[in-house]
Amino acid sequence: MNIEAQPKIGNNVTLNQSRLGQYVHLGDDAILEEVEMGDYSYTAGHNQISYATVGKFVSIATYVRINPGNHPTYQRIVQHHFTYRGSDYDLGEDDEAIFDWRRAQHVTIGHDVWIGHNAVIMPGVTIGNGAVVGSAAVVTKDVAPYAIVAGVAAKQIGSRFSDSLIERIERSQWWHWDHETLRERMADFRDMEKFIARYL
Ligand SMILES: CC(C)(COP(=O)(O)OP(=O)(O)OC[C@H]1O[C@@H](n2cnc3c(N)ncnc32)[C@H](O)[C@@H]1OP(=O)(O)O)[C@@H](O)C(=O)NCCC(=O)NCCS
Repeated sequence: MNIEAQPKIGNNVTLNQSRLGQYVHLGDDAILEEVEMGDYSYTAGHNQISYATVGKFVSIATYVRINPGNHPTYQRIVQHHFTYRGSDYDLGEDDEAIFDWRRAQHVTIGHDVWIGHNAVIMPGVTIGNGAVVGSAAVVTKDVAPYAIVAGVAAKQIGSRFSDSLIERIERSQWWHWDHETLRERMADFRDMEKFIARYL
């Protein structure tokens, strides 16, 4: 990997069993826990992301949180974390069953998704390619490719493109083009008509 392609990591970033692709940029003050992040994706700062697969070219704004863990609200009398983080309190070992349960509620974010400021993506949600999550949304259900969602709980307020154009973009899989191809086609990325005519 050449030096520019190495992930750029801001100050005070904790990476726990996470994998970052080429050209990934992580802003300051982030915690990533068991996250796979695809090439060119970035976080703007103050982000916490757990048990998630993030596609390529994903834009994650400041204060976005992805997969906040649930506590054992219905399963235990006590929902405070001392019952599963025993080692932090000199109360025995951690209880992996709770972490396995959280792991099973994996979040999947497609390619070229834009997640607005302060949004929360709840456990188990899948967000399709090209979708937009509005500022401060709380996303509790899956989001269709290229859909625009907003609100608490988030609802679809629009779509970026027609169904037929979405199908053509999906077929192109432009997100798998290599770096040289991106460089050659930069002018076309900036001109929607040309892009459609040449590649879709
Ligand atoms: C979601 C977003 C992309 C929608 O943009 P748009 O398609 O141009 O939508 P509009 O501004 O025309 O708004 C459409 C409707 O959705 C509502 N809406 C827009 N954004 C909303 C949001 N974040 N939360 C709740 N409602 C929202 C509008 O009030 C409007 O409602 P109405 O039809 O009742 O009048 C944009 O509002 C947004 O949230 N952008 C994120 C910006 C951001 O966080 N940037 C971070 C730096 S990268």
